[in-house]
Amino acid sequence: MISNKLLSLPLLLSLPVASLAQSLSQILGSTDSVSSLAAVLQGYPDITQSLSDARNITILAPSNEAFSALMNASSGMDMDNSTITALLTYHVLEGVYRSDAFRDTPQFLPTMLDDPRYGNFSNGGKQVVEAININRNPTLFSGAKMNSSVSTADVTFDGGVIHVIDTVLTLPMNVSTTAIAANLTAAAGALTAADLVDTVDTAQSITIFVPNNEAFQAIGNLLPTLSNEALMDILTYHVVGSVEFSSDLSDDQELTTLQGGQLTIRIEDGSVFVNGAQVILADVITTNGVVHVIDGVLNPNNTDDEPNTDAGETQSPAFESATRVSEVPFTSGVPTPTGTSMVTPSSSSTSTPNENAASSLKGNVVTGAVIGAAMVFAFAIVV
Ligand SMILES: *[C@@H]1O[C@H](CO)[C@@H](O)[C@H](O)[C@H]1NC(C)=O
Ligand SMILES: *[C@@H]1O[C@H](CO)[C@@H](O)[C@H](O)[C@H]1NC(C)=O
Ligand SMILES: *[C@@H]1O[C@H](CO)[C@@H](O)[C@H](O)[C@H]1NC(C)=O
Ligand SMILES: *[C@@H]1O[C@H](CO)[C@@H](O)[C@H](O)[C@H]1NC(C)=O
Ligand SMILES: *[C@@H]1O[C@H](CO)[C@@H](O)[C@H](O)[C@H]1NC(C)=O
Ligand SMILES: *[C@@H]1O[C@H](CO)[C@@H](O)[C@H](O)[C@H]1NC(C)=O
Ligand SMILES: *[C@@H]1O[C@H](CO)[C@@H](O)[C@H](O)[C@H]1NC(C)=O
Ligand SMILES: *[C@@H]1O[C@H](CO)[C@@H](O)[C@H](O)[C@H]1NC(C)=O
Repeated sequence: MISNKLLSLPLLLSLPVASLAQSLSQILGSTDSVSSLAAVLQGYPDITQSLSDARNITILAPSNEAFSALMNASSGMDMDNSTITALLTYHVLEGVYRSDAFRDTPQFLPTMLDDPRYGNFSNGGKQVVEAININRNPTLFSGAKMNSSVSTADVTFDGGVIHVIDTVLTLPMNVSTTAIAANLTAAAGALTAADLVDTVDTAQSITIFVPNNEAFQAIGNLLPTLSNEALMDILTYHVVGSVEFSSDLSDDQELTTLQGGQLTIRIEDGSVFVNGAQVILADVITTNGVVHVIDGVLNPNNTDDEPNTDAGETQSPAFESATRVSEVPFTSGVPTPTGTSMVTPSSSSTSTPNENAASSLKGNVVTGAVIGAAMVFAFAIVV
């Protein structure tokens, strides 16, 4: 699949002769494995021009197989010009990141995506992708925690470097769509019940700690008795008005929530806790920040709740006299996810602290199934 020319490039470019650095169009035109990308770019002359003029960039170039899989997954759907423009610009990093710049801990690298539908931040912040080594292989995580692997690294061109990736990046989705795609249906339903969907979807630069379904079930007896105000208080206590990726969190850090109360971050033995709840899937990039999935519902009236890390003991809910219910609360009327290749959170998995980033992959991988409608919406493309 990869032409001889591409394979010989790193060798050629290691020679100290500047004129050997090829232009983007030369590389795209001579590299069989990215001919689909070259074909797509032909329909977008403005992007092609700005990429050709750009310096100090990294292009994540989806392979032909990546485009083929995308089209198969979204057959029959159409994606408009502005969405394809957003998708293409999401594949361009500001700065040169060779494969040796990838680390075993996550880095969140700014892209050239500047469409507010997919990246809406205060102070002109840029939408990011997560870059990390998994088993020494440079890997990218994009919207809905979808992963792409670098299949051919470090193809130098005169504007920077190109990595060929095996899966097209996923455009970040808003919080409510991400929640449904990730099977966080109780949280999605609770946001709807409290009339907070617009607020969390359109706020700029936020972090949300989203409890999984089991967390809502664990306090299920209390939920029907809550006033609207109390539910609103609980939910806004999970939202922080700044973007805090796992790499931004530190032990004993306090974060102020939209509700007004403080959350306390603790990092113990490589696991991240927020009050007494554990982060079980970190760093799900959304249109306006990040979601961390947690295994307990946080209580604004119990800000002193702490993790119980005694071996063999399970964490009690942060709410007094909570008892578990078997039905998932708040889910009537919430669409059920139909398909995924996303890493879905599982309560047995651990989070992504600074020391142990790759553990975010301990979530269950449910192949072929959660993203469903959201995926088709975000991915449909016609070349
Ligand atoms: C997309 O829009 C740009 C700018 O309006 C235009 O130059 C380009 O031809 C369009 N591409 C396609 C495939 O419609
Ligand atoms: C690219 O990066 C180099 C080194 O960091 C810097 O000297 C140069 O000015 C940058 N060029 C552009 C166009 O940003
Ligand atoms: C896409 O579908 C075609 C036709 O079914 C198949 O031949 C091809 O292998 C599929 N591509 C991928 C990457 O799944
Ligand atoms: C972006 O953020 C602003 C300010 O919060 C909001 O008014 C706007 O609706 C948001 N845009 C999108 C596409 O979410
Ligand atoms: C995504 O991660 C899963 C689980 O580690 C792995 O099986 C799969 O091959 C990865 N996909 C890509 C495209 O890297
Ligand atoms: C979604 O969550 C429900 C309830 O927690 C669970 O029964 C179901 O298996 C989950 N679906 C997927 C695809 O993970
Ligand atoms: C969230 O995204 C979905 C899917 O793109 C969209 O239908 C919905 O209107 C968005 N929500 C808001 C409040 O913008
Ligand atoms: C917190 O406690 C106050 C005073 O007892 C009560 O009115 C309020 O409903 C409680 N909030 C929640 C979210 O339980």
